[in-house]
Amino acid sequence: MIVYNCVTLVLLSLLPHIHNKLIADGLRSKLASIVLSKTNTSTAIVSLPLRLALCKLTQHAEGEAKSELLSILGFQTEGKLSVCLSAVQNVLTTLESFDFIMLSRILTNDTDEYTNTFLKPSFSVQVDKVKYHQNNSAVNYVNNLISTKTLQRLKYILNNDDINNRTSLMLVSAVYFKMTWEIPFDLKKTRISKFRGFDRNISLVPMMSQDNLYLFLIDDGLGLKMIDIKLATQGLSMFIVLPDDANSMAYFLSSVLTEPNFIRSIKNRMKLRMLTLNLPRFKIKSLVNWKWDLQQMGLQKIFLSNETGLDSALKNNTKRHLYVSGVKQKTFIEVDEMGVLRGDGLRHEFERSQDDIISMTNPTLEFTADKPFYFSILIHYDLSDYKNTEDLLNGVYYGPQ
Ligand SMILES: *[C@@H]1O[C@H](CO)[C@@H](O)[C@H](O)[C@H]1NC(C)=O
Ligand SMILES: *[C@@H]1O[C@H](CO)[C@@H](O)[C@H](O)[C@H]1NC(C)=O
Ligand SMILES: *[C@@H]1O[C@H](CO)[C@@H](O)[C@H](O)[C@H]1NC(C)=O
Ligand SMILES: *[C@@H]1O[C@H](CO)[C@@H](O)[C@H](O)[C@H]1NC(C)=O
Ligand SMILES: *[C@@H]1O[C@H](CO)[C@@H](O)[C@H](O)[C@H]1NC(C)=O
Ligand SMILES: *[C@@H]1O[C@H](CO)[C@@H](O)[C@H](O)[C@H]1NC(C)=O
Ligand SMILES: *[C@@H]1O[C@H](CO)[C@@H](O)[C@H](O)[C@H]1NC(C)=O
Repeated sequence: MIVYNCVTLVLLSLLPHIHNKLIADGLRSKLASIVLSKTNTSTAIVSLPLRLALCKLTQHAEGEAKSELLSILGFQTEGKLSVCLSAVQNVLTTLESFDFIMLSRILTNDTDEYTNTFLKPSFSVQVDKVKYHQNNSAVNYVNNLISTKTLQRLKYILNNDDINNRTSLMLVSAVYFKMTWEIPFDLKKTRISKFRGFDRNISLVPMMSQDNLYLFLIDDGLGLKMIDIKLATQGLSMFIVLPDDANSMAYFLSSVLTEPNFIRSIKNRMKLRMLTLNLPRFKIKSLVNWKWDLQQMGLQKIFLSNETGLDSALKNNTKRHLYVSGVKQKTFIEVDEMGVLRGDGLRHEFERSQDDIISMTNPTLEFTADKPFYFSILIHYDLSDYKNTEDLLNGVYYGPQ
């Protein structure tokens, strides 16, 4: 999408240090483990845009609805709410100048029932009025909006039955991300190879290959292999967990992912190793509706049409209650040899240093992602402590669809 020259890339790499770590929280890890473990289809989720929308709702919530929201966001008091956006603003700015597009919208009916404060954007979340009674054109309008904002990468986030005569608020988010590696893969080394699903079905995938130094760990007890691959934006890496089988995957997703210190403890045990990394070139497009999952996590009042918890977003003379009818997210993740096109100067520099390393050692270890794997994009807030990370994105790849 954007061609970077060397200078821009270096500037982009100066990811600011951030001490308030608030992307990650119970919302992110619980949602990830619930959403990722209940399906056998490749899925990628980013809880941050949902988090921002919930922060905006919290501003207008009262009573139990407000307590539930604060609790799921991990805040003791409303005073902390402003941190929702400020803690992540710098990371977002950096990512947006890369190939990362994220938007979070709240849809309402096209009436004058809402207060001006509610209609004003906050936490980077915009409110869109759509004509709910013209359900098909409302759906088209929203789908076109998402498509335009994501440069045609994401279409069809809403179905015709998402908007009906009982719809109140819809929370809608979309994320597009294309991985750009610190050291690109050599296109000439990509081979078509077998990928074996948990159901033992074999499909063919383009397998990229690279010999390099990576942080690596094998845990035979848990049946997991793990690797950390640096992305071009300094401070971001892709973390991949390759379970031996479906049971190891299920165990990892259901319990280990929700343990706040698990990734840190793994990172402590990871060692730099010279190895051959084989990773499929892949794309994941996924669409999730989180209403049920959020209800399971204890967020209930905001979904009830008979409750008044969100009514302060409405003008005083309104007879209707305000509630959330649906929470949808569509994501599109792309992984290939290069990522975003970059200037030639930088690429040569990478290739030289890569050759230097390869000439020193011959890898005997191998990390081959030829069966379903979990992955996340990690943000390293503090570059002097590489193990101190938070997830921006979580996903599972089960093979090509
Ligand atoms: C959409 O609107 C049409 C015409 O107004 C109506 O017949 C149809 O039942 C509506 N669909 C839904 C899902 O509400
Ligand atoms: C909503 O639409 C359904 C059918 O689409 C209809 O049965 C119901 O009466 C409508 N409710 C209201 C409040 O208009
Ligand atoms: C949306 O607003 C229109 C126009 O005021 C109204 O006729 C319709 O009943 C509203 N629909 C919903 C679902 O609130
Ligand atoms: C996913 O696949 C595994 C192994 O094939 C199976 O045991 C499990 O029931 C499946 N889960 C779902 C939700 O389909
Ligand atoms: C596995 O392959 C068989 C035969 O090709 C096919 O019928 C079946 O649907 C596949 N299973 C999955 C889960 O894709
Ligand atoms: C709203 O309805 C639910 C069940 O649908 C009920 O448990 C709850 O008490 C009701 N709330 C109010 C304020 O009436
Ligand atoms: C709505 O009513 C409440 C008390 O009933 C009052 O405090 C508030 O100022 C009113 N808001 C508007 C916008 O009129």
